[in-house]
Amino acid sequence: MHPKFKRGRAVALESRRTAVGDYLDFLAAWVKKPRQTASVVPSSRYLAQLMVRDLDPADGRVLELGGGTGVFTRAILATGLPAEKLEVVEINPGFARSLRRHFPGASILEVPAQSVSGHAAGERGSYQIVVSGLPLLAMDKALHVAILSEAFAMLQPGGSFVQFTYSLRSPVSQSVLNALDLEVSRVGQTVRNFPPATVFRFTRRGE
Ligand SMILES: C[S@@+](CC[C@H](N)C(=O)[O-])C[C@H]1O[C@@H](n2cnc3c(N)ncnc32)[C@H](O)[C@@H]1O
Repeated sequence: MHPKFKRGRAVALESRRTAVGDYLDFLAAWVKKPRQTASVVPSSRYLAQLMVRDLDPADGRVLELGGGTGVFTRAILATGLPAEKLEVVEINPGFARSLRRHFPGASILEVPAQSVSGHAAGERGSYQIVVSGLPLLAMDKALHVAILSEAFAMLQPGGSFVQFTYSLRSPVSQSVLNALDLEVSRVGQTVRNFPPATVFRFTRRGE
């Protein structure tokens, strides 16, 4: 067999092994904490591409919430954003450990998303985007307010909070949006994810 072909096969095999490992890790996390993990499988790369569509690698810092096995982290770095501009928040110690191993240049913050502003390295108001994989549908309104308040404290003027959901509607209620003076728009939807998912963008009203 040609050595180039052999190398290609080895790379394909290795990435399939990683994907299977990610699926098993996710399933194990879901069995332990179903509400916190909220899905039995990681998101697809198609959903990840939709999540990072508006990210500008030449703009400010990026915060990812609920990194899991790193599907969105990989897509964020694939935009060309320097790893030192990325911080990933992940509350599950096993996922946090694996994120540190796979993305050594990025900072992994093992803290709850609702208290991220006390731990993030960047200045308040210096982040261009928050990419959230958090299970908002499994959380109550008080937690939505806490998470969005923290995220918007970190975002620069015009910055956005991007969130996916398995519902067709925004996972954040109008009363919470009104209380925080935020508005929502739909980024898109993909059926190439299990389950199919919709992506929403939250911004400060009028920005
Ligand atoms: C639905 S999974 C998404 C994982 C990954 N982003 C993906 O799309 O495959 C939700 C992730 O958020 C993490 N998580 C849940 N609540 C959190 C919180 N309050 N703070 C930080 N991470 C949290 C879970 O441990 C889990 O990894």
